Amino acid sequence: MQLQVGLLSMMAVACAPTPKHTAGPVYLDPDAPIEERVEDALARMTLREKIALIHAQSKFSAPGVPRLGIPELWTTDGPHGIRPEVLWDEWDQASWTNDSCVAYPALTCLAATWNPEMAALYGKSIGEEARYREKDVLLGPGVNIYRTPLNGRNFEYMGEDPYLASRMVVPYVQEVQKNGVAACVKHYAINNEETHRHTIDVDLDDRALYEIYLPAFKAAVEEGGAWSIMGAYNLYRGQHCCHNQRLLNDILKGEWGFDGAVISDWGGVHDTNEAIHNGLDLEFGTWTDGLTMGATNAYDNYYMAEPYLQKIERGEVGTDELDDKVRRVLRLTFRTAMNPYKPFGSMRSEEHYAAARRIGEEGIVLLRNENKTLPFDLDGMKRIVVVGENAVKMMTVGGGSSSLKVQREVSPLDGIRARVGDRAEVVWVRGYVGDVGGEYNGVTSGQNLRDDRSAGALIAEAVEAARGADAVVFVGGLNKSDRQDCEGTDREGLELPYEQDRVIEALAAVNPRLVVALVSGNAVAMPWVEQVPAIMQVWYLGSEAGNALASVLFGDANPSGKLPFSFPVRLEDNGAHATDSIFPHDGKTYYKDGIFVGYRWLEKEGTTPLFAFGHGLSYTTFEYGAVTADRKSIDERGTLNVSVEVTNTGDRAGAEVVQLYLADCESSLPRPVKELKGFEKVQLEPGETKVVTFPVTVEALKYYDDTQGRWVAEKGTFEAMVGASSADIRGTVAFELK
Ligand code: BGC
Repeated sequence: MQLQVGLLSMMAVACAPTPKHTAGPVYLDPDAPIEERVEDALARMTLREKIALIHAQSKFSAPGVPRLGIPELWTTDGPHGIRPEVLWDEWDQASWTNDSCVAYPALTCLAATWNPEMAALYGKSIGEEARYREKDVLLGPGVNIYRTPLNGRNFEYMGEDPYLASRMVVPYVQEVQKNGVAACVKHYAINNEETHRHTIDVDLDDRALYEIYLPAFKAAVEEGGAWSIMGAYNLYRGQHCCHNQRLLNDILKGEWGFDGAVISDWGGVHDTNEAIHNGLDLEFGTWTDGLTMGATNAYDNYYMAEPYLQKIERGEVGTDELDDKVRRVLRLTFRTAMNPYKPFGSMRSEEHYAAARRIGEEGIVLLRNENKTLPFDLDGMKRIVVVGENAVKMMTVGGGSSSLKVQREVSPLDGIRARVGDRAEVVWVRGYVGDVGGEYNGVTSGQNLRDDRSAGALIAEAVEAARGADAVVFVGGLNKSDRQDCEGTDREGLELPYEQDRVIEALAAVNPRLVVALVSGNAVAMPWVEQVPAIMQVWYLGSEAGNALASVLFGDANPSGKLPFSFPVRLEDNGAHATDSIFPHDGKTYYKDGIFVGYRWLEKEGTTPLFAFGHGLSYTTFEYGAVTADRKSIDERGTLNVSVEVTNTGDRAGAEVVQLYLADCESSLPRPVKELKGFEKVQLEPGETKVVTFPVTVEALKYYDDTQGRWVAEKGTFEAMVGASSADIRGTVAFELK
């Protein structure tokens, strides 16, 4: 009987309609079309209320219109978890005790899954947390292109390829917004280095702009339907990106028809006139550097506050621009804070931890695996030695605005220990001392990592422990401190810091069962690559870091991640550095590498990378059949299907990311050797075969012709190449565009 009652009430819950919230005095039916509600609200507002609506009132909120019951608009970082509450007018955390979150893997890891379903799961999960914390705008995801391995913020972005980033950003945005939370896609645009980020003036040719740096933003807007976008700190052609006529008015709002709100980066606004006329809608963080420095109670002096009002009152400017901004902020508010059907969200649920773990497991990239060093077989193992600071260091604290306060974070060492249990002894030794800090904006890791021993002593200890061990796992890489993977600064070189190369070489010399697991958001140099049998790119994996790593080490998860950016052997092999068009001394830079970013540069130069874009191994093997096309040519309207059979020829289930690259055999403008234009992750049981088909239309063949200012496809021969990475093409088929 009791059971029946329980079931009935559960059914009642499941069948209940989505609840409707009534927020404030709603003059129009909340179900009225948003545009009607916008016009209605606008008509009721005074000039001062309009001005108030378009700039911040605290570090992360804008005031709404209290008199009309239009609520405050609350933003939050983003993009890897929900930032802890900060004090009203300070960066320091407010020490609430209800605001710890689940940390999801960094966006480089998400991109490395090459799985749009993981992007959807990520967006859904983080969107639910944002909603539960009553945030209206999530400051993320970031889709700036990975141009140099030195950029301190690459870990917050989705790699070097515009196609991959575009396919991954769309589901993230869509799923976040299903929660009545706006995604705020950042940092628009060409924000590719942190050095002098507020003052660097970037220029580049239109081909590079349209083909490389804008597509992910365009996809987020046109396909993802993003409700807000964040202007970047840097300048483009002499104008700051937060009030840039070409980027915001001409391209974003003009060409792409963006109807949402342009939000400034924190401290990215510099001029009232430009802010009025050049497309900015909502101003945040003025008189701050977005990180630490900040003037107190500066809000009335924001560029779009009193100075704007005075210009209107003096008759220097009309109110058309203001009304457009207010409409956009109201639209944002009606879509989020005043959405009557928004769900309630959820926080720290087991589903969210499971999502974080799954994305982590799918994003880890197995770079090298000689002699089947991995996965480990626990049978017969007595002693596993784990070496390295990153095996124990909490990585969710630090790195700038993406820093979090987590409910829990499983370190690599704890993850390995939990997986091994009492079946073997797990010993940890330090190996090197990197960053012993563990505080960001008042959130502390609680770890004391201080160690005053010399590098020599630490290496000797590690070598002693590693000798004779059944397996050695070195967990190193970068961390979230300045000049590592951290906002506001860039790295100083491609090398691993803290003499880690020495540690790795010493370990390799005494134990052949060495695995190097690199925790980072960037490529690093590996002078020891041939001496180490197994190498994994582990990223920043958030709350479930250690569990996800252990799953892959011990074969519970079969790795299926692929690199979302190239690992060059040397820094000079990267296009931005080879052309010396980065970190300018005079504050201005012209991107001389043009469209040749990442693998496009390496392939043009014929340079072999350390690890290629798209590379990643599995514990099973995949065989590709012949690559075929269902026709020999297409025209402007046709679709050609490129197909390949992929078979799992190994003895365990696994997933392969099958990649399609297209090449234009002859063209009037220089084009890359090949470009990614399709991918699909297929799950295969041992012995199973699946056919993967990529539809190709003329859109995929186009390049941006900057002499004509439009996308063109030239008639002639093209090649479709299908492979397991950009450097591992398994079959090619030629076709004509007629
Ligand atoms: C960062 C943004 C961030 C904002 C708010 C800025 O410093 O560049 O990415 O969303 O601060 O914290």
